Amino acid sequence: MVGAGISTPSGIPDFRSPGSGLYSNLRQYDLPYPEAIFELTFFFHNPKPFFTLAKELNPGHYRPNAAHYFLRLLHEKGLLLRLYTQNIDGLERASGIPASKLVEAHGSFASATCTVCRRPSPGEGFWADVMADRIPRCPVCTGIVKPDIVFFGEPLPQRFLLHVVDFPMADLLLILGTSLEVEPFASLSEAVRSSVPRLLINRDLVGSLAWSPRSQDVVQLGDVVQGVEMLVELLGWTAELQDLIQREMGKLGGRDG
Ligand code: OAD
Ligand code: ZN
Repeated sequence: MVGAGISTPSGIPDFRSPGSGLYSNLRQYDLPYPEAIFELTFFFHNPKPFFTLAKELNPGHYRPNAAHYFLRLLHEKGLLLRLYTQNIDGLERASGIPASKLVEAHGSFASATCTVCRRPSPGEGFWADVMADRIPRCPVCTGIVKPDIVFFGEPLPQRFLLHVVDFPMADLLLILGTSLEVEPFASLSEAVRSSVPRLLINRDLVGSLAWSPRSQDVVQLGDVVQGVEMLVELLGWTAELQDLIQREMGKLGGRDG
């Protein structure tokens, strides 16, 4: 399970960190209150802040970091049952983890839907509009086209239901870079069997690991990349991870990370 904390090392602010989080920087986005950026009522009143965020997260702008590539390595080794992410920056896909292994629980910018006639957007011109600060419109009815990001109150994607079969099968749960404050995602942390170790690598002790700890829990507080690198070292995978990162960095363009 991952959240915005695995992407801050790539240069993307998280939501709730005091000072640096998006929710403390409302003026830059012209928001009346933090959650408005993901609320439909506010979006119809003023879609600009959301599209400012979309522009910021445009594909190729940011690069995955060691935390993403560690998860990719788990996949390469046949150890990744599934990656449940709350992130909408697409960096898990960009790191080369196949879509079949991913549950993008809060949606992604990979597809978009007209908010009026519900037609899937053909996609052409969507990023051109966003990058030019134009609100993307439906070619059929001129309604605003909204990327398939899950706003507050909206249902999660169908794939989220995979948790019903995945979590009882897991024999280790990794929780990286999330405040575990948003439901129903946060409750997945309690969906593994009680004998299953949960490893939290995060700046703070959060969610059910704080208020309902289990004897098998392992908590590594601090920077997520440092925590992941320590784990990788203990596993003896350091050289392998570095090779993977070097290979992938060569392929990807982009700015940070
Ligand atoms: P939050 O911003 O709520 O939490 C990020 C967590 O990562 C916090 O506990 C930080 O302390 C920690 N963190 C940040 N940078 C870190 C670093 N370099 N090393 C270690 N820990 C670090 O983000 P999420 O839990 O992902 O909804 O937020 C959940 C949802 O709230 C998001 O998906 C978003 C928002 O409303 C949508 O996008 C629809
Ligand atoms: Zn339409």
